[in-house]
Amino acid sequence: MDCKILLLVTFYIISKLAYADICELSALFANCSQRGLSQISQNLPEYITKLELSENAITKIGSKAFKTYGKLLILHLANHKISILDSDAFVGLCEFKVLSLTRNRLDHTRYTNNVFRPLKNIQELYLNRNMRSPPPFEKEKVMVHLKILSIDLCGSSDFGIGFLKMMHLQKLTFDHCLACNSKNL
Ligand SMILES: *[C@@H]1O[C@H](CO)[C@@H](O)[C@H](O)[C@H]1NC(C)=O
Repeated sequence: MDCKILLLVTFYIISKLAYADICELSALFANCSQRGLSQISQNLPEYITKLELSENAITKIGSKAFKTYGKLLILHLANHKISILDSDAFVGLCEFKVLSLTRNRLDHTRYTNNVFRPLKNIQELYLNRNMRSPPPFEKEKVMVHLKILSIDLCGSSDFGIGFLKMMHLQKLTFDHCLACNSKNL
């Protein structure tokens, strides 16, 4: 066997074994779901494009938490106790397409308004089942490629000008629906 191929195969087997006990790797997909993780795994291959991290015990997304995974397109972070999003939590993920933060403890009054701004190409954002209120939408054009948005809706939701600029939105889902005082809807 060619030496390079042998080296590649060995590397592949070693990397499979190294992560086998924590996450399940198959091609570009890392499944770290239900592993009792309290932090975002930092030792996965840099080339992964999909990371399933749902149903763990993460409480905070720190600064540049995904900087190692610059090729990431899909990230599932549902069913945690995440209440803190650092202002540059998602920095470096400009190709990113799908983010699910469903069923966490996010309260938009506790994270900066533009935390999702680095996700310039995001198409699907799931923020439902959090603190029953959607984040305020920015005044500028951000998340303009968004096609699916799922949020909670409560009394004083302000949809604002940033929402109107989401020209590609095809599906808007409200969870915990209580659409009383919505403005600009
Ligand atoms: C990911 O791992 C969990 C826990 O082992 C399993 O239940 C789930 O089916 C896996 N998901 C996929 C898409 O392989």
